[in-house]
Amino acid sequence: MIKVAVCGANGKMGKEVCNAVLNSNDMELCAKIDLFGEDTFKNIEQAKNSTQIDVLIDFTQPASIYENAKYCLNNNIKIVIGTTGLKDEQIAELKELAQKNNTGCFIAPNFSTGAVLMMKFAQIAAKYFSNAEIIEFHHNQKKDAPSGTAIKTAQMMSNEKDTFKEGNCPETETITGARGGSSYSDIQIHSVRMPGFMASQEVICGANGQTLTIRHDSHDRKCYMDGVLLATRYLYQNNNFTYGLDKIME
Ligand SMILES: NC(=O)c1ccc[n+]([C@@H]2O[C@H](COP(=O)([O-])OP(=O)(O)OC[C@H]3O[C@@H](n4cnc5c(N)ncnc54)[C@H](O)[C@@H]3O)[C@@H](O)[C@H]2O)c1
Repeated sequence: MIKVAVCGANGKMGKEVCNAVLNSNDMELCAKIDLFGEDTFKNIEQAKNSTQIDVLIDFTQPASIYENAKYCLNNNIKIVIGTTGLKDEQIAELKELAQKNNTGCFIAPNFSTGAVLMMKFAQIAAKYFSNAEIIEFHHNQKKDAPSGTAIKTAQMMSNEKDTFKEGNCPETETITGARGGSSYSDIQIHSVRMPGFMASQEVICGANGQTLTIRHDSHDRKCYMDGVLLATRYLYQNNNFTYGLDKIME
């Protein structure tokens, strides 16, 4: 059994992760860590002093993650990081620390296996289609547009060619924004915001006489759990530094 500690255990993601670990056949929830809650250790050090931890999963907050990760990597605790907000230079430092101390570290900005596959499939399709546009759909409390996933998808597709607007005639918008925003390799991205959606995305690829639509829908936070457990199992077996769930979904 893999002994798993969850940091941020009383948060929205942390609660899902605790349930996922409890429901798995090969993992044991050895510690819940959170600043709040009666049944939790208040920091990683307290938990480490009380129990053996094989892998720690962190879903806390941007202000906490860098210190949490450094503590783990300096104390021989493997860490899966779902918390967002790490700066590029902090990620580079964590990579160096993980390698120096030979302690595994796995960071993924998106743990949804379906979203990762959607991006991979879109990149494959990009080779064979002359035109492409992306429509992303989110709840109406999302402040930024377009989504990071849409930008990353366009970026990955743009490795295949310089434009995905082949043959389009010159365009005039009679309503501003009607054609969406132009991104990498001229891929237009359209952002929809309304209640009812959590996170969805369609990548529409066009070529002579055919279109291909690749669509992914996240309905609730459970969508991240398969990826979190996949990364946890991977890290239990490996001591390296890995960035991105796609790296272990070949
Ligand atoms: N990688 C992904 O796929 C993915 C998916 C969803 C959310 N996220 C990220 O996960 C993080 C958590 O999201 P959430 O919605 O669960 O937030 P949340 O605010 O509901 O929960 C965060 C929890 O962490 C606790 N916490 C904060 N600092 C701590 C510390 N130093 N030690 C222990 N506990 C601490 C808080 O008390 C809280 O209970 C965010 O950064 C979010 O962007 C990542």
